[in-house]
Amino acid sequence: MGATSELELRHGNAFQVLEAYPENQFHAIITDPPYGVIEFETAQVEKMRDGVGGVWRIPPELDGSKRKPLPRFTVLSEPDKEKLRTFFKEFGEVAERVLRPGGHLFVATTQLLMHEVAMQLDEAGLERRDVLVRETKTLRGGDRPKNAHEEYDMVSSMPRVWWEPWLLYRKPFNGRLQDNLENWQTGGLRRESAERPFTDLLGNGKTPSQETAISKKAHPDSESPEAHPNLKPQKLMRELSHAALPLREGVILDPFMGSGSTVAAANALGYDAVGIEIDETFYEMATNAIPELTKVTTPIERRADVKEAVQGNLSDY
Ligand SMILES: C[S@@+](CC[C@H](N)C(=O)[O-])C[C@H]1O[C@@H](n2cnc3c(N)ncnc32)[C@H](O)[C@@H]1O
Repeated sequence: MGATSELELRHGNAFQVLEAYPENQFHAIITDPPYGVIEFETAQVEKMRDGVGGVWRIPPELDGSKRKPLPRFTVLSEPDKEKLRTFFKEFGEVAERVLRPGGHLFVATTQLLMHEVAMQLDEAGLERRDVLVRETKTLRGGDRPKNAHEEYDMVSSMPRVWWEPWLLYRKPFNGRLQDNLENWQTGGLRRESAERPFTDLLGNGKTPSQETAISKKAHPDSESPEAHPNLKPQKLMRELSHAALPLREGVILDPFMGSGSTVAAANALGYDAVGIEIDETFYEMATNAIPELTKVTTPIERRADVKEAVQGNLSDY
């Protein structure tokens, strides 16, 4: 683990856990929430773990290798969508309260539901800044019409999805950016270098198999270990963590940490972080996986600005 960062991992419902935190606490929130909300309800998670589907699609093996379950967001009913709106309304309000003025919020989402999420974050009074594009060539979509593959062999029902949207918001602040940086250490995004600002096209690709193997090994049941179905790559999470703290100081929150990729990324860069996870198995996985994910090396550590920040930690790799 990083020599200088302080990590706080909490098992529980983020909305309840965060009630105990004062306002203006966090410099940034970086999170990959349950996109459609229902897929992480206990009954659906059990179905996924039993391999019987539910809202999760268990894709057939490809060239003999097992593929991760995928949630199907096309099946959400109107009551499901109402639940999703309530969840993100509450999330927007909590984020607005616990973020420092000028603090950024990075939220992973999906093309199918991003408008619903964005509407709730707008309503909560957060300021929309951009939509980041993470290039990731998934196998989702691109399928020919069901049961009519041959008849319509040149047709697919929807495009194959090759990018993932990340909503970028900021808690509003009064006055000049330079004053906010001085008072709250927030408001801007850290540049990659003096020459190049942080850009919104993130060509980061898939989660490497080495990291998936760490998540799998971290599973508390060694007889049937499974990686977290939504583990994000360290390269991406470190890129976002670096951009999120403009003065390289502060605390990053991930209220829906899963197996801990955000917390590990913050730790690898020497930043303090708080991670919250409701599911006991995923929480245990995070506690086991974070030290290992922290040790993974990515190209970002070679950048001068990052090298300088993690100097104290490099000997731990
Ligand atoms: C998309 S996953 C995050 C995966 C994570 N990015 C990783 O790399 O492992 C979302 C997580 O949020 C958790 N979750 C859902 N509702 C929650 C809540 N109310 N409070 C805390 N965690 C919650 C789920 O159990 C799930 O592990």
